[in-house]
Amino acid sequence: MSVICELEDLRRLYHRRVPKMFQGYCESGSWTQQTLAENTSDFKDIRFRQRVARDLTPRTLKTTMAGHDVNMPLAIAPVGLLGMQHADGEIHAARAAEKFGVPFTLSTMSICSMEVVAEATQSPFWFQLYVQRDRDFTKQLVERAKAVECSALVVTLDLQIIGKRHADHRNGMTAPPRLTIPNILDIARRPRWALNMLKTKNREFGNIQGCTTGVDDMGDLMKWTANSFDHKLNWDDIKRFRDMWDGPLIIKGIMESSDAEECVKLGAEAMVVSNHGGRQLDGARSSISVLPEIVEKVGNDIEVWMDGGIRSGQDIIRARALGAKGVMVGRPMVYGLGAMGEAGVQRMLEIFHEEAELTMAFIGHRDIESVCADDIVMGH
Ligand code: FNR
Repeated sequence: MSVICELEDLRRLYHRRVPKMFQGYCESGSWTQQTLAENTSDFKDIRFRQRVARDLTPRTLKTTMAGHDVNMPLAIAPVGLLGMQHADGEIHAARAAEKFGVPFTLSTMSICSMEVVAEATQSPFWFQLYVQRDRDFTKQLVERAKAVECSALVVTLDLQIIGKRHADHRNGMTAPPRLTIPNILDIARRPRWALNMLKTKNREFGNIQGCTTGVDDMGDLMKWTANSFDHKLNWDDIKRFRDMWDGPLIIKGIMESSDAEECVKLGAEAMVVSNHGGRQLDGARSSISVLPEIVEKVGNDIEVWMDGGIRSGQDIIRARALGAKGVMVGRPMVYGLGAMGEAGVQRMLEIFHEEAELTMAFIGHRDIESVCADDIVMGH
């Protein structure tokens, strides 16, 4: 097998091993995909200040996120349908995160249920909640997350309604895949994926089984989402979830300072500046460009994290320098998972760790806590 030095190597292998329809689901954004593109390209405007002749030993990226010790300031973002990117994908990703010492967040829309993932792992993981119109069912999800001892609840607020994702409509993605001739030919070229998928029982939406009867393609899923997710959700409702959950609460999908202030009022431990990886409101600003104003407004009152566009360990340092206490990563984890299962996610984490640690040393620090705004300049 070729040497895996950087994320791009994993991405190439991912393209070889995972059926096209699931690649499309992972890599696309909404509408014109402008926000998706700017999430990554805006990182390129952040330049480092190189410093020399400092004592650079020992070095550490260890810190905390919402009270959890982490080996670097990164958590795996919730990503739906991981079990279609690789058989039992949620278990593979959770195990890699567990071994590496970073949190794994299980999506409401996962293939393996929270009970199945809990059974297959030792350390607690986080559960991401989409609030459904059926409040009893939403409450049950929270109760189940408590029962399997999830150690944080991540409530995603930017998918009350679903963004226009033309790519998903076009590639006709289904879970499990519909066996049309082009799909069969595509899957036949990826026997490792297919064999693993045949061996597992986990091929439907594990957490919401029973609620999604008749949902088997992306069009159906979008309709189901449109009908089931709560369009009336407001800050008072979210307060009720705060009261229902004893552990850390993390609010994800914040792009405005006024909404960030609501997270503080709510008593959430952390909030994630996020535009859902460019999959919801196209034309929204990139997360990294919004981060500084939110840190300025609420950074002393709540942990501010960001996600969207992190593609290397260097980007973790850039985000830290702009005030993010931590970051989440979605697609990089999917590339590792589709490329090599658990070992691929592990490799992605190793690569990011090494890149972040080296970058920190080049800018003259030994401890991630020392990285600050003075380490970067914007533009040239
Ligand atoms: C997501 N995201 C997401 N978020 C969430 O809260 N629940 C979910 O089920 C999903 N599902 C999902 C599927 C796919 C394929 C992607 C790419 C993303 C958003 C995710 O948590 C995160 O915000 C973005 O992935 C961050 O951007 P990057 O790291 O992918 O650039």
